[in-house]
Amino acid sequence: MSQPDLNQILSPIQKELLEVEALVMKNLETDIPLLTEVGQYILKAGGKRVRPAMLLFAAGSLGKITQDCCQAANIIEYIHTATLLHDDVVDNAELRRSKKSARSIWGNEASVLVGDYLFTVSFQYLAKLGQMDLVHALARTTTLMARGEILQLIRTNETATEADYLEIVYHKTASLMGAAMQMGSILAAGTQEQSDRYYEIGKNIGMAFQIVDDALDYRLNNQGLGKQQGADLKERKITLPLSRLLEVANPADQDQTLEILDEEVITDDHVQSISSMMDRYQVVPYCLGRAQDYIKLAKEDLGRMPKNQYTDSIVALADFVVTRNL
Ligand code: IPE
Ligand code: IPE
Ligand code: MG
Ligand code: MG
Repeated sequence: MSQPDLNQILSPIQKELLEVEALVMKNLETDIPLLTEVGQYILKAGGKRVRPAMLLFAAGSLGKITQDCCQAANIIEYIHTATLLHDDVVDNAELRRSKKSARSIWGNEASVLVGDYLFTVSFQYLAKLGQMDLVHALARTTTLMARGEILQLIRTNETATEADYLEIVYHKTASLMGAAMQMGSILAAGTQEQSDRYYEIGKNIGMAFQIVDDALDYRLNNQGLGKQQGADLKERKITLPLSRLLEVANPADQDQTLEILDEEVITDDHVQSISSMMDRYQVVPYCLGRAQDYIKLAKEDLGRMPKNQYTDSIVALADFVVTRNL
């Protein structure tokens, strides 16, 4: 399948996304130069704005995309950005959104603290929207996300089952995408059933999104992502591609993989060897197949939603998630 163009997919909400961008920048202004500078740096570096788009599409499909929807979309992007600032500290990442990560310019301390600020200010803006069900939705998700990163931290080779992996993916990534769509539905006065279903749709798109992200980490010479390739292996993170390789490889290749994981430093050459083995065992196509399973579930649920340009856009976004290379 050729890759759908993200700008094209987002075109029905182009105007509203511009409004979200304006809020993202305006709400970042503070009297503390370091805070504004770090926040602006990462937020201006780009980012696909997939989560705000999911919120706006869900709202549009059920009602009007109001100013409150744009504010909620801004909040979702702040939460996402906070987790990226924190995640890059935990993962020792050098690159983010094709630029040096904030932690490699300003240090871990500043990254953690600015991430904390984005988290907390998000709840302040959320409270201003004055809808308790939105607060419940986001509070539940941010707790799940924190759990996800902790679960990932304590994961070892021995506990690297696929079920564990999927639980982490749900917590750290899918729950936020679920909440984004649920909040869009709540703001458009969707029924309880519609809001619950949008949570499921967002969650399933999010599961696919993270599985693809983990597969792309092993696709070398791919500059589009704006992150270092092979970073998960270098951090000894057992994501689906690696656990699949360990499961299907012959004993000699399994041993070689485990030996690499035991190396003091995992180098680019090691990443290359693992990637070649993955090619031989068709690991990336397997992961993409698993991601497709989640997209299929999301599309089945979307079929039960009102059919309009916004639900069509969500279908297109779901296809983008499994064909993307950025
Ligand atoms: C990166 O998310 C973190 C993951 C959940 C894999 P995105 O790929 O949406 O990051 P940006 O916002 O476009 O940079
Ligand atoms: C996703 O995990 C990060 C969050 C949801 C916070 P990754 O560690 O795979 O994300 P990238 O690859 O660094 O963007
Ligand atoms: Mg990371
Ligand atoms: Mg990743």
